Amino acid sequence: SDPDLVERARAARAALGSRAFVLGHHYQRDEVIDFADVTGDSFKLAREAAARPEAEFILFCGVHFMAESADILTTDAQQVVLPDLAAGCSMADMAAINQVEDAWEVLQDAGVADVTIPVTYMNSSAAIKAFTGRHGGTICTSSNAEVALRWAFDQVGGVDGTGKVLFMPDQHLGRNTALRGLGMSPADCVVFDPRKPNGGLTDAELRDARMILWRGHCSVHGRFSERNVTDIRAAVPGVNVLVHPECKNEVVEAADYVGSTEYIIKMLDAAEPGSSWAIGTELNLVRRVARAHPDKQVHYLDSTVCFCSTMNRIDLPHLVWAMESLVAGRTVNRIVVDADDAHWARVALDQMLALPG
Ligand code: 13P
Ligand code: SF4
Repeated sequence: SDPDLVERARAARAALGSRAFVLGHHYQRDEVIDFADVTGDSFKLAREAAARPEAEFILFCGVHFMAESADILTTDAQQVVLPDLAAGCSMADMAAINQVEDAWEVLQDAGVADVTIPVTYMNSSAAIKAFTGRHGGTICTSSNAEVALRWAFDQVGGVDGTGKVLFMPDQHLGRNTALRGLGMSPADCVVFDPRKPNGGLTDAELRDARMILWRGHCSVHGRFSERNVTDIRAAVPGVNVLVHPECKNEVVEAADYVGSTEYIIKMLDAAEPGSSWAIGTELNLVRRVARAHPDKQVHYLDSTVCFCSTMNRIDLPHLVWAMESLVAGRTVNRIVVDADDAHWARVALDQMLALPG
């Protein structure tokens, strides 16, 4: 990075002192991670935001839905800042609140809404989290999806009963967790396509399903393929394949280990020196992990997949601008969720934070 910019960042950070707390998601650029007080996966960062009531400003180096969640979990006096408002998430954008409300009407018309509970991935707008809270559901992240699903099924008669979960918006995380964590079969899962009438499903299909998966996916993780796993195993004998659960089911099935970004880091920390790893997640994280473990061989699962373009919007110039503005007494890019949505989204987020484990 430009040394002048790094110097300005240091000065602004020092001037803010304990008035500010900087959170950095594991997919952020190194130049940004260097200024993070805490790094983490989505779950850890949500907990960290909730645990810092003394910080006047939470600078969230991550994407929009994370900053919204931080605003919901912090006090009204605290201000959450997203250094670049264009840092969205293509997966979160695949579920709009009006589409979700329409989908619920489809479930009502099919006579299944009463036995369905929403489980919503953190990667969603505050409005959809609020919908989830209003309908008695929970939020989950990639690190607690199985516990969240078990809890949700318990609310509607248990995993072996006839109740259903509407899982939004990542079909892959929902399917992977249902099949691998809960022992369900592919026949238990249907995909609800919000662009099609009735979600593209018949009422009978909705009645028979246990997992109604929203048709959404991550544009980064969706690009890894089973072929990548086969190829790396052929090229690097004995390689351990470690992927994020936003990958397609065939990729997750072919891998050796599956988990959140924090899990990926912990696995490499615990790995034997000399061992080989192929990692299927965003590139900033994989590069950082590789650099932290020169005694291990770290490969990228597919060299044509790369950064999450929206995570990468947060760069040092934006962070410096946000911090210097705060120093000058001007809050820029504040993220504020409207009070009613914030209330109900908090109900769903608190439900997640109260899950066992
Ligand atoms: P985690 O950090 O919770 O594993 O999530 C990954 C992700 O895609 C965040 O956008
Ligand atoms: Fe969204 Fe995927 Fe980027 Fe995560 S990696 S922020 S899910 S687009």
